Amino acid sequence: MCGIVGAIARENVVPVLLEGLLRLEYRGYDSAGIVVTNGGLHRLRTTERVAELAKLVSNDKTEGFAGIAHTRWATHGVPCERNAHPHFSGNEKKIAVVHNGIIENHETIRQDLQEAGFEFLSDTDTEVIGHLVSKHLATTHDLLDAVFLAVAELRGAYAIAVMDEEQPGRIIVARNGAPLLLGLGENGNYAASDASALLQVTRKMVYLEEGDVAELYHDRYRIRTCDATTKLNSEVTRPVRESDLTREAVELGPYAHFMQKEIFEQPVAVANTLEMVLNAQSISPRLFGSKAEEIFQKTSGILILACGTSYHAGLVAKYWLESISGLPCSVEIASEYRYREPIANPSTLVVGISQSGETADTLAALNYAKLLGHDHSLAICNVPESALIRQADLRFLTRAGPEIGVASTKAFTTQLAVLILLTSVFAKLRNKFPSELEQEMLIGLRHLPVSIQLALQIEPQIKEWARNFSQKRHALFLGRGIHYPIAMEGALKLKEISYIHAEAYAAGELKHGPLALVDKEMPVIAIAPNDVLLEKLKSNLQEVRARGGELYVIADADSNIKESEGVHIIRLAGYSGMFSPMLHTIPLQLLAYHVALQKGTDVDKPRNLAKAVTVE
Ligand code: F6R
Repeated sequence: MCGIVGAIARENVVPVLLEGLLRLEYRGYDSAGIVVTNGGLHRLRTTERVAELAKLVSNDKTEGFAGIAHTRWATHGVPCERNAHPHFSGNEKKIAVVHNGIIENHETIRQDLQEAGFEFLSDTDTEVIGHLVSKHLATTHDLLDAVFLAVAELRGAYAIAVMDEEQPGRIIVARNGAPLLLGLGENGNYAASDASALLQVTRKMVYLEEGDVAELYHDRYRIRTCDATTKLNSEVTRPVRESDLTREAVELGPYAHFMQKEIFEQPVAVANTLEMVLNAQSISPRLFGSKAEEIFQKTSGILILACGTSYHAGLVAKYWLESISGLPCSVEIASEYRYREPIANPSTLVVGISQSGETADTLAALNYAKLLGHDHSLAICNVPESALIRQADLRFLTRAGPEIGVASTKAFTTQLAVLILLTSVFAKLRNKFPSELEQEMLIGLRHLPVSIQLALQIEPQIKEWARNFSQKRHALFLGRGIHYPIAMEGALKLKEISYIHAEAYAAGELKHGPLALVDKEMPVIAIAPNDVLLEKLKSNLQEVRARGGELYVIADADSNIKESEGVHIIRLAGYSGMFSPMLHTIPLQLLAYHVALQKGTDVDKPRNLAKAVTVE
């Protein structure tokens, strides 16, 4: 999604702005732009990559002590230079604005502004912001006041940065529903939608809250916030935090792609996430916060809300929570849940799962669940300062480290690790977990990072398979029981980065329709652990083979399935019980990665996709 970087310093800020944009590239974008003050507002925009913008800047010898820059992921208006940010307020080029998010009432505002004589040059919702600021500046003569009045008219979610040609020593930023933070540096002050964009200049971050408007000077900053009821604004202080993100964590190092790096980081990511239990003698509800035990004691069911890969983690957890802790669990796609009329139960704990913690649908669904009457919520999330973490009553941070590849990998396995802990906690509270089982679980968790490391060793065989897939246009993924969501996750990974159409089916559903698709052109990937459903799955695989479908089976060492013509098998170690879904995910991630490499697609930044989906 879109990215914002702003900088005001004692030195030329162009290198900081460009480096910041490069670090935000992973979020996905289709145009980029920059504006700096240098005897007026000087702007460059392109529909190419940030590297191209850097060339334009260098040819143009653009320099300045203050500037704002942006990567745009198109929502309103096609990706083209005219729609790229920064936008000026009309032809006067007086006000420059960059914006993340969506202004929902932009059409009405546009109409009013047009009637008032403002000219629109783009198809974006963003352009109304610049004009509104211009309009209010004419009466307030103060940029901060003008921005306050402008944002009061906006509906929707946004983070913005604004500059005024006539007040070049000042940048105003505002946050409402989209992430934005300030960076406090030695030589200047900065703003960005993501901390990773500013690590080159500072680790001191101030995370803005909803409704905050901040003004940045090179040597100071001020934050004012708008009271939602009185609409009056007053000065506030927000804590300065030292970011623990390291530059290495957001750099590629020896890897070719972030996705590759993140797949291979999974043993460490899972070990870090489980750190608090790896040496523990028991699994305590306090892992989920000091109030968790009291809330969990009253919990009669679980409702999981999430999107995409995080939703798949939720689907896996449903099997665990119901079969091990005996707790009813429903899992819903957040974008669907938020627009239907479900029956709420105050004692059903709402669990929001999200890597970014900024996914608009998940945040809205959690809010909606609260409005409907659910008493408590838990966030499972990878980003400490995210909106989801702040919104929920209880939280568990996955410690996967920054996930930069658009395709989620280590976030998924760390989410599953947390969901195993959640299942164990509830099993214990509900007397379904005698101490021998708890000890067995602790031993299993201690071995998990090594088991993932072993699963990664099948990479050479997966590379062989990938060669067969690169020419295919479709693929079918099959699983049964708890491995059905793993098949769904495998299909999602393949389609999003290799653009091969992939569908997942519960293998028992095959003969109810999708079997019609199977012929020798249709590779069928089957997840075949040695669990209670293996024999059933084998019958389903026979049905595929009988129609000429080529089978690629991810089995366990002890799954009794034989390799034969048209049946390729990769074996993981012996059946790993409850941990099996996590291990069977690894070959599917590697398969998607190597097929994408074969096809030469942009692995880390697949077309049309963005990392954090901060708009509906
Ligand atoms: C797929 C993928 C997406 C995300 C989804 C939710 O690889 O990454 O499907 O899982 O957009 O994102 P988060 O987890 O940040 O809420």
